Amino acid sequence: MSEPSSGAAGGADAGGGPAGDRAALGLPDSGPPRFQSVPGVRRDLAAIGYLADEGIAGVVYLADRLAKPVLVEGPAGTGKTQLAKSVAEMTGSRLIRLQCYEGLDESKALYEWNYRKQLLRIQAQQVADAEPSVAGAGTPRWKELEEDIFSEDFLLTRPLLEAIRAQEPVVLLVDEVDRVELETEALLLEVLSEYQVSIPELGTVRATRLPMVFLTSNNTRELSEALKRRCLYLHIDYPDLDREREIVRTRVPGISTELADQVARIVRSLRTLELRKPPSVSETLDWARTLVVLGIESIDATGARDTLNILLKYQSDIDRAAKELLSADS
Ligand SMILES: Nc1ncnc2c1ncn2[C@@H]1O[C@H](COP(=O)(O)OP(=O)(O)OP(=O)(O)O)[C@@H](O)[C@H]1O
Ligand SMILES: [Mg+2]
Repeated sequence: MSEPSSGAAGGADAGGGPAGDRAALGLPDSGPPRFQSVPGVRRDLAAIGYLADEGIAGVVYLADRLAKPVLVEGPAGTGKTQLAKSVAEMTGSRLIRLQCYEGLDESKALYEWNYRKQLLRIQAQQVADAEPSVAGAGTPRWKELEEDIFSEDFLLTRPLLEAIRAQEPVVLLVDEVDRVELETEALLLEVLSEYQVSIPELGTVRATRLPMVFLTSNNTRELSEALKRRCLYLHIDYPDLDREREIVRTRVPGISTELADQVARIVRSLRTLELRKPPSVSETLDWARTLVVLGIESIDATGARDTLNILLKYQSDIDRAAKELLSADS
């Protein structure tokens, strides 16, 4: 494919062997490699409906070999979240998702104690202690009780801890990481640097097999240098014409090759306009589905004007695009 590569690794068909051996790279052993080659990653992703270019496949391959998280940036709707989901599916891993938002804190990202259950346990103990027939009643048993209420049974595991403790293969998706505050970003950095979590009452939990980690960002704010340094960087831009046509054909099986090609061309031309919100891949797919539902077999610039509201979400964009399509046809 002619698309420019957005990452390293190119198409090298690197297998196992010394080149892929983490010890030879001076890295700690983190389990057998998940992938055999960059083209293999691309092929296996395509087999489950995710069309990657060489750059995307290269970064996924390297992330596994170097045991590094991937920071995925790029415009909305270009397949950032889907990449993590598809890698999970491709590798038969459980997807654990941490959806980021403003105000997300340690108790929702890592773990918290189940206070309600702890309280009930304490109350039950008080009732038992007040009952003279119960053996040991009246003696202070706070130490015992404390050990009990700060045990596994009272722990609420949140996505980061869940990913670290998982015994089975896991892909951790930290979605829209640019929405969290700096303190939570620092927590993420700590967890992703060590792949371990220290719980004062229980001890340190270490990952037995490092999860593959994807962090996505819409770039609403700059992430810290430290977090970026820890990650491999992947920019996913709008796909080129060939890849977008293939994405349409893969995701909308009922469409003809001709219509998929027309859709991809028109969307591409709209993206060259100065729009407030250029159409994303998800909107291309919505539009393709709309045309199939309406029984349209072929579309030109004039025909496209009637369904522009599926592709564009601002009236000013729709007006501008309609004008442009009209002049393209005349
Ligand atoms: N390369 C691709 N191959 C197959 N489908 C794709 C590809 N890229 C995008 N899609 C489809 O486009 C849609 C949007 O993808 P996704 O939700 O991953 O975008 P995103 O980049 O995470 O967007 P946002 O920034 O809004 O969260 C999904 O339905 C996905 O299936
Ligand atoms: Mg997303």
